[in-house]
Amino acid sequence: MLDDIKKLKQEVTDYSITNKDELEAFRLEFLSRNGKVQSMFSRMSEVPNEKKAEVGRAMNEVKNLAQKTFEEAEKRLERKEAADLDATDDITLPAPPYASGSFHPLTQTLEEMKNIFYRLGFSIAHGPEIEDDFHNFTALNFPPNHPARDEQDTFFIQKNKNNEDLVLRTHTSPVQIRLMQEQEPPIRAIMPGRVYRNEAVSPKSYFLFHQVEALYIDTDVSIAELKETLISFAKLMFGTDVKYRLRPGYFPFTEPSLEMDIWWQTNDPNDDGKWLEILGSGMVDPNVLEAVDIDPEGYTGFAWGMGVERIALLRHQIDDIRIFYNNDVRFLEQFH
Ligand code: DAH
Repeated sequence: MLDDIKKLKQEVTDYSITNKDELEAFRLEFLSRNGKVQSMFSRMSEVPNEKKAEVGRAMNEVKNLAQKTFEEAEKRLERKEAADLDATDDITLPAPPYASGSFHPLTQTLEEMKNIFYRLGFSIAHGPEIEDDFHNFTALNFPPNHPARDEQDTFFIQKNKNNEDLVLRTHTSPVQIRLMQEQEPPIRAIMPGRVYRNEAVSPKSYFLFHQVEALYIDTDVSIAELKETLISFAKLMFGTDVKYRLRPGYFPFTEPSLEMDIWWQTNDPNDDGKWLEILGSGMVDPNVLEAVDIDPEGYTGFAWGMGVERIALLRHQIDDIRIFYNNDVRFLEQFH
């Protein structure tokens, strides 16, 4: 028996543990419940009484040795693992690129527009995206059942309790009406927001887009001020060398009406360039002022509505409006 214990001790000493598999094999072979150390203890009954103390001591020694061998090997392997990891951490390497998010290009354009009007003394107002017929059409001087209502490709939703049509607003102009109903002139505000039209999706149109409405109501507001404001905006937005033109237009809610075009030409040598309309504007029609109980004899004003997508297309030389809504990161990450 003592010889066997000696042999076992030798086996423990000779065992080489160089990795985790070997460590586990060692544990199973010597330290587990069916392992060699435990089996040796179960042979204690064979040992005559007068030898029990000596054999017991020898067995405890082997047991402690096996335990110590296991623990030391375990610690050594852990240290080695940590060292191996450290070795791959080359702190002189450049850090991996940090992917930070950024604002959507439309949001960026909108922010810039807001800043320009903030500098020109305009405040900001908002209105609902679901509008009633009165605010979206009637108060804006669209005659009842007039085809102009269809021209805007309206999404009709349902009737409200007064049996009026509820629509997804087709423009931000109804916010003018809400503002004039709530506030006494002078009024100088812009109204940014999302608008909806039931149009076929194409590179030029989408069923939703964004507008910024502007309204200025005071005593003696003239069309010269309107022109001056539009031109200042174009220069602040696109730079002082911007090529623009103002054309007469028609809107039920303004008289006279003007539209503003910006010259658009890409760097492509085959591109001859073209005019792109960015906004409609005009002097607020007296019928509109009357609809909101403002005296057209005492007050005049001007208004305009701009397309945010159009302005963003021009700024970034993009030729397909749909790309704004795909949320393709390869597009979005170019606008950091
Ligand atoms: N609401 C018009 C549209 O969506 C744009 C517009 C034209 C707004 C003239 C105005 C304006 O405020 O005066 O086409």
